[in-house]
Amino acid sequence: MSREILIAPSILAANFARLGEEVAAIDAAGADWVHCDVMDGHFVPNISFGADVIKAIRPLTAKIFDVHLMIAPVDPYLEAFAKAGADIITVHAEAGPHLDRSLQAIRALGKKAGVSLCPATPETAIEYVLDRIDLVLVMTVNPGFGGQSFLESQLEKIARIRTMIGDRPIRIEVDGGITRDNAAAVAAAGADTLVAGSAVFRGKSSADYAGNVAAIRIAAEAGRHPKLQDMSAPPMRAGEGALVR
Ligand code: DX5
Ligand code: ZN
Repeated sequence: MSREILIAPSILAANFARLGEEVAAIDAAGADWVHCDVMDGHFVPNISFGADVIKAIRPLTAKIFDVHLMIAPVDPYLEAFAKAGADIITVHAEAGPHLDRSLQAIRALGKKAGVSLCPATPETAIEYVLDRIDLVLVMTVNPGFGGQSFLESQLEKIARIRTMIGDRPIRIEVDGGITRDNAAAVAAAGADTLVAGSAVFRGKSSADYAGNVAAIRIAAEAGRHPKLQDMSAPPMRAGEGALVR
């Protein structure tokens, strides 16, 4: 199934002293979603922010709030994140023994449900919950910190998930170390939603952020349409567009 490329800047890389302005800046810069990384210092070795911060910035943009919960346990907090204004709530497959229950709870709260997989977790972890999810988040770094290096090993997992989900309306999101240099590879493997923190919040102004978002988007779209990568290649012939997923 062909799904447009979406770019989701992670506000983990924003200047927290000016968080409201940063959210407005990525909105103006053309971000599709606002990715919110919630860390508890237990499931991951870092603490970021919680539902009250998300609630505070929610009125500043109409964009989709894509909330990535790196917390365990997660079930006791789902309602708080739903009430804070999350549109998509993603939980980790590794965060507890009852993934199916967590996903049912998210949908019962009226939200889209996502599952995230750490780099060492195989794609088989989602095999029996495919009908309960709207999104799979493939971690391309070990979760906990921004600014880490992309793990190439995850490309094969992305491709396997793309095959596994078939025609189901499930987005494949990648998160960690995404830049304009690897966006084509993840899109070619099958990702359609790209989270980027440090690669977006580089520079000072919304105009800088807009350039960063656009560069990642253009690279990802070129990855899906390999012929666009080589501008010296002969022009597409009629019917070649059908190659596009
Ligand atoms: C890592 C987070 C990511 C991270 C992305 O645990 O889930 O969203 O902030 O940041 P960059 O793009 O800098 O790797
Ligand atoms: Zn994230």
